[in-house]
Amino acid sequence: MSNTNQSERPRASSIQPLKLTLPFLKPYSGRLILAFVCLTIASISMLGMPVAIRYVIDYGFSGDNVESINLYFMALLGLALVYSLFASLRYYLVMWIGERVVADIRTAVYCHVIKMSPTFFEVTRTGEVLSRLTTDTTLVQSVVGAGISIALRSSFAVIGCLIMLFVTSAKLTLMIIALVPLVVLPVWLYSRKVRKLSRATQDRIADSSSIAGESLNAIQIVQAFTLEKLQGQRFSESVENSFQAARKRLKVSSLLSGLIVLTAFSAIVVVLWIGAHAVIENTISPGTLGQFLLYATFLAGSTTALGEVWADVQRAAGAMERLMELLSSEAEIKAPAEPQSLPESGRGHLDIQNISFHYPSRPEQNALDGFSLEIQPGETVALVGPSGAGKSTVFQLLLRFYDPQAGQIMFDGVDIARAAPEQVRERIAIVPQDTVLFAESAMENIRFGRPQASDEEVRLAAKAALADEFIERQADGYETFLGEKGMRLSGGQQQRLAIARAILKNPPVMLLDEATSALDSESEKLVQEALDHLMQDHTSLVIAHRLSTVIKADRIVVMDEGKIVDIGRHDELIIKGGLYARLAELQFKQNLADVTGQLKQAG
Ligand SMILES: Nc1ncnc2c1ncn2[C@@H]1O[C@H](COP(=O)(O)OP(=O)(O)OP(=O)(O)O)[C@@H](O)[C@H]1O
Ligand SMILES: [Mg+2]
Repeated sequence: MSNTNQSERPRASSIQPLKLTLPFLKPYSGRLILAFVCLTIASISMLGMPVAIRYVIDYGFSGDNVESINLYFMALLGLALVYSLFASLRYYLVMWIGERVVADIRTAVYCHVIKMSPTFFEVTRTGEVLSRLTTDTTLVQSVVGAGISIALRSSFAVIGCLIMLFVTSAKLTLMIIALVPLVVLPVWLYSRKVRKLSRATQDRIADSSSIAGESLNAIQIVQAFTLEKLQGQRFSESVENSFQAARKRLKVSSLLSGLIVLTAFSAIVVVLWIGAHAVIENTISPGTLGQFLLYATFLAGSTTALGEVWADVQRAAGAMERLMELLSSEAEIKAPAEPQSLPESGRGHLDIQNISFHYPSRPEQNALDGFSLEIQPGETVALVGPSGAGKSTVFQLLLRFYDPQAGQIMFDGVDIARAAPEQVRERIAIVPQDTVLFAESAMENIRFGRPQASDEEVRLAAKAALADEFIERQADGYETFLGEKGMRLSGGQQQRLAIARAILKNPPVMLLDEATSALDSESEKLVQEALDHLMQDHTSLVIAHRLSTVIKADRIVVMDEGKIVDIGRHDELIIKGGLYARLAELQFKQNLADVTGQLKQAG
């Protein structure tokens, strides 16, 4: 994906990626202009100070004009006052813009990433995304805020000082300028290197956060297999890698700032030396040399600051590049330019027509192969088949996480590839195999089914899902915090919460991937009853692992290797004695006794 062509992208100018912050700065151009005005006033008042000091030196000490010496000192004080006022105002404005812009970038990147298709997440690790959102944005912030503040102030000072130096003594200034290439050349050479190394550091940091994220997400597996030591090693190795990358970067950037300081101060010493001779020979006054020296010091200080900030700017450019990679990646599944809308009155009629599909990462193997299935509104269809038959893939395509390579899926008469994906998903509720719960209260977890639902509606849904009773029994009832990923609930309780969520959403189509994990028979009965409520009056497609489900289904679709091999009711298929009979014997063995009982009752 984008990673490969990003690395081949030409790098004409080393801070090119920072240009990408411009669109984010645009809304705050008013403040930027204000900051610029403050900067100008502060800089001018700073540049005025050495002039005042020259007058103090040349005339102030002669003692024949006390009036004027007071005036010079008042002017100096006034300049300091103006400078401090506008400098702090500028600081506030620029830092404000930095914080604001980074907050905007963070939100933009997150809101973009959250819309990406599953294919994106197959190649991008979530830990890496998190690292980009946190460490990379922080880097950009340091530059857009403090960095730009320093850079602007210093550039202004450099230009201003150079002009004033010329005014003060053109001869001395020309000498300084002759020394400029000595400063600029190494900066230019090294800063390119810093940027590359900075990107490498950020990549290594992202590696280690994704390793940590992975094992923390599966902490119980890690501990159950006593992988703590191994995982700890993996993490420490990657942290070590990022340290080494940072060390390389530090080496280059300290060398860089050292070089700048050395050349800048050598230049001053040379100038001071020549200047001192000029004063002795009476070609310039001591005040003028003082003034010149102050400007030269300002100049040196500002160039040093610029050099340091330049290294930061390089780092931020690397970080911004990584952020923009995320922002510019496009979701594979998008709404067409003019999406067709699903009929308002649609009751969930599904018609899957001759679908062939392989996952992008596995082009050699068709997960579905010439698959066709029509499901009437209100019908309950069970999907049965061996592992890898393609059952979950059918769900993935119905939810339009992927587009099939051939065939189409009609939802209430509209091809879902021509509709907006959100509109299709709005009409489907899914109860996945493994319940996904968020670290919130029971109330909020159910409300994810329909965020605008009232507390009362949430309670009703919980009652229908038979979740009401156990929720009420918790210490804080519906407000009980469920722990991360619902850790504080049993498997059956988690499933009933997921069912309540789907009931609350109440769309025409229900997709249900029955949990394979065995529940005890009491819990199983509760979940089954909850599911019955869920499937009532809905078009339901169930990946069935339980006997009771297949028996109640209107039709059972038997799948193998991406194809439909048989369709029928439980008893018909058992009598036929094909794949289904074998699967049923394996999967439902434990309840075989019930089967015969239930069949006898039915027949
Ligand atoms: N994201 C993916 N990328 C590549 N191949 C995949 C992906 N997901 C599933 N597959 C492959 O597609 C085929 C069908 O998988 P699917 O998940 O639909 O099977 P299933 O019938 O749901 O199996 P199970 O009963 O074990 O859940 C399998 O061969 C599987 O390896
Ligand atoms: Mg599956």
